[in-house]
Amino acid sequence: MINKYTLLVNKENKVPEKIENIFELIQTNDTENEPVLIEKETYDEFIKLKNYILEKENILIGIDGGYRSVKRQEDLYYEFVKKYGKEYADSLVAPACCSEHHTGLAIDVGIYFENEGYIIVNDNFDKVNIVFKNHIHKYLNLFGFILRYPENKEKITGYPYEPWHIRYVGKEIANNIYTNNLTLEEYLN
Ligand code: DAL
Ligand code: ZN
Repeated sequence: MINKYTLLVNKENKVPEKIENIFELIQTNDTENEPVLIEKETYDEFIKLKNYILEKENILIGIDGGYRSVKRQEDLYYEFVKKYGKEYADSLVAPACCSEHHTGLAIDVGIYFENEGYIIVNDNFDKVNIVFKNHIHKYLNLFGFILRYPENKEKITGYPYEPWHIRYVGKEIANNIYTNNLTLEEYLN
C-alpha cells in the first residue's frame, strides 16, 4: 500500500520540491527547548509512543531532531566534519537534498538519563544503544514508526545502523516492515 507516508528519500531519491505542499509541518520543542518542525501525523503518533514508553518502561524520550532544510543539512555536514572528521560525516550525514529529515517524517530520538539529561548518542553509542534495543525499538511499529537504518542493512539503506533515527510510515506498513525484518527500500521493491 503506497501512500504519501511511504515517500522514499535516500541517496538515489531526492526530496520533492515544496514539501509543505505534501505534508503539514507543525512546530514543537526539541530536547534543548529549541523549536523544531515535525509532520503533523508523525508528531501526534510520536507523542503516543513517548507516553507509552514512559508508562511501560519508565523511560523519557524526546525529539533531538526533526525537519531540516537543505541548508541546515549542509551546515550539519560541516559541523560533523569538524567534530568527527570527514569519513565519519560522509558515512552518517545524508547529502543536502537527500535526507529524510527534509520531509518532517523522520525523528532523531533523544533518551533522558537521570542526572545527565539527554545525552548525545554519537558520543555515548554503547550506553544509548542498549536502551534503544531493549526498551524502545520493540514499540515503534505500534505507533507507525520504523527503525529506518537497522543493523546489517547498510548496503540497502546506504547508512550504518542508527538506533536513534525513526521514520513514520503508518501502522500497517510499520507492522509489515517490523515483522518481516525489512527496510523501507525492500518493502517498496
Ligand atoms: N543521518 C541520516 C542518514 C541523515 O542525515 O538524514
Ligand atoms: Zn536522523
